[in-house]
Amino acid sequence: MHVLVTGGTGIIGSLTGRTLAGRGHRVRLLDVAPDPVALARNGGQTGDVEVVPGDVLSFGDVGAAARDVDVIVHLAYSLGEATNRRPYAATQLNVQGTATVLEAARLFGVQRVVLASSIAVYGADGAYAPAELPLTEDAAPYLAAGMPLYGAGKLYLEQLARVYRSTHDLLCVGIRPSPVYGPGGVRGVSGWLSGAIEGAATGRTVTVGRGDARMSLVHVEDVAEQLVRLVELDAAAFGDRHFFNTGGDATTMRELAALVREIVPEARFEVTSDGERDVAGLATQVSGRALGELIGYERRYDLASGLRAHIEATRPPA
Ligand SMILES: NC(=O)c1ccc[n+]([C@@H]2O[C@H](COP(=O)([O-])OP(=O)(O)OC[C@H]3O[C@@H](n4cnc5c(N)ncnc54)[C@H](O)[C@@H]3O)[C@@H](O)[C@H]2O)c1
Repeated sequence: MHVLVTGGTGIIGSLTGRTLAGRGHRVRLLDVAPDPVALARNGGQTGDVEVVPGDVLSFGDVGAAARDVDVIVHLAYSLGEATNRRPYAATQLNVQGTATVLEAARLFGVQRVVLASSIAVYGADGAYAPAELPLTEDAAPYLAAGMPLYGAGKLYLEQLARVYRSTHDLLCVGIRPSPVYGPGGVRGVSGWLSGAIEGAATGRTVTVGRGDARMSLVHVEDVAEQLVRLVELDAAAFGDRHFFNTGGDATTMRELAALVREIVPEARFEVTSDGERDVAGLATQVSGRALGELIGYERRYDLASGLRAHIEATRPPA
């Protein structure tokens, strides 16, 4: 298949591109600011991976990139606190950018769009009855009071995907990842985690807050594999389902620091806490079972093995 990945040189996109190419697909990565470091980490631009500078807000850029592809993996989005700090720009990218990608897919006869939503659509665990935890796709997402625009945009993204599927018969499906860790996180929670994990593993003393806030984490390799399997899955297998939790391992930064120290005994953390219960209002107990059963893939990494892989991939040689 020929697959276009928007936001293609971010932490998830660059690894998704490499995984797709490794499975024999032709890959085009569209990114407004292609990141040479992320590309180099994931094999660079080879015959099967083409990098196209372009903006998902430009119909011309997206149309040119989508013209001859079978599937689009849409990842470009504004992450983290930048979303609330710059609401106009974030709305453009997260809402208009998604609409531009879906409209281009429709006009150019793309067969499928695989989108990244987020567990942010749930708000925090506390809004659900204990019997509903861990949250499955049956739990109703909602616009929680105080929900960052990041999550509100994901609710709209999911609804746009549903409408394009029902109105235009364009297969739109996707994942709701837990916060992602792995080599090269720059923005949002991934940037915060990479700063802490890679900083400590490379000998810096890392000062990190929100130490007792719970969070659900998933390794980037598992997310890339889940996306690739959604690209490849037989269309009939989805039925009327759209978005699936990736699942994740619940932890805190304090627990994560202890795990990092088991792998790198010389790692130094100063962990502080203001008593936060969660990170950015995100749910912490989510089930990835439905996705696992759909695509026939159980996450390869638990937190201990995922942190070890992350550290081994980023630690300078001794
Ligand atoms: N990382 C996480 O913890 C996490 C968790 C849940 C969902 N997600 C979702 O997964 C997707 C990918 O996230 P990521 O962590 O790889 O993000 P990232 O910030 O690492 O990558 C996003 C990429 O999009 C590009 N981009 C930004 N504006 C663009 C534009 N106008 N046109 C084209 N490209 C543009 C950026 O240059 C960047 O390379 C996002 O939709 C994000 O919301 C991420």
